[in-house]
Amino acid sequence: MYAVAPAPASTLRGRHFLDVTDLSPAELAALLRLARVLKAAPGVEQRAIARGLTLALLFEKPSLRTRVSFEVAIAQLGGQALFAAGAEFLIGSRETPEDAARVLSRYVDAIVVRTHEHEPLERFARSSSVPVINGLSARSHPCQALADMLTIEERFGSLDGLRIAYIGDAKNNVALSLAQAAVMLGATVQFGAPSSHRPSKAALAHLQALGKASGGVAQAFSSAVRAVRNADVVYTDVWTSMGEERYRERNDAMLRAYAVTDELLSYAQSHAIFMHCLPAHRGEEVSEAVIDSGRSAVFDQAENRLHAQKALLVALLSDAKGFVP
Ligand code: CP
Repeated sequence: MYAVAPAPASTLRGRHFLDVTDLSPAELAALLRLARVLKAAPGVEQRAIARGLTLALLFEKPSLRTRVSFEVAIAQLGGQALFAAGAEFLIGSRETPEDAARVLSRYVDAIVVRTHEHEPLERFARSSSVPVINGLSARSHPCQALADMLTIEERFGSLDGLRIAYIGDAKNNVALSLAQAAVMLGATVQFGAPSSHRPSKAALAHLQALGKASGGVAQAFSSAVRAVRNADVVYTDVWTSMGEERYRERNDAMLRAYAVTDELLSYAQSHAIFMHCLPAHRGEEVSEAVIDSGRSAVFDQAENRLHAQKALLVALLSDAKGFVP
């Protein structure tokens, strides 16, 4: 069904996906195209793609969306998932990341890891002979970014020339991965955050370099209004990420002025949508009125985790005949 003969082999087959920047802009665009194809044609034909393959999900932190969407994705592709969490799986606690990766590579065909620190994940991936997917680390959340890009493309046709405002904790993993993908696809990202919660100068410079070929740009403002003005998309996330709970009180105080409310959204374009990776804290980073409004795309985003990750699995695990960067 996905074949366009003669089809080139996937350039992603067998590779790891730890960061958005593991993809070229062309590969990112191709993955999103494949996700749209898979989303438009669910059904039995997809079940041959990963028949007999096993996806391990190893999570050091809680998850709803990432776990369930990967489990459903591999099942819809004909494969099976196995899940281990908490003390059963802590990278480097019972054995080195390298030994754990070498062992697991003998049992399963791909591994999704949700971890606290990014560095052990990199060590794990270097020793794995099967694809390793970052299901969220302290540094990045690339699978979320794939779903976010798919959602924005569905709403606007393309990222090219769009203005995306990211408000609140603009230093976190979701913000960084979103911004990387967006500038690679030609969007302008406007962070609105106090200086304590903005990407570093080095991170901003890296985003500018990433966006150079496509015209993508990243800018940071201390004013939420300036960041949101004329935006097509207004995005936020919780003020305190998992594992950072000791900073909750400080973050609440520093970020209160950056809550996304109807008043703040009024500075965006009239067609602007609201996005959030979920889980959300209603009444904190976003008002109930905004997240439950007709402008909110949050449940489309959550659904698109499934379609985007299914495309990723197809590209990493098969010849992905519909995958043409
Ligand atoms: N957005 C996201 O990653 O959700 P979970 O933490 O529930 O997986």
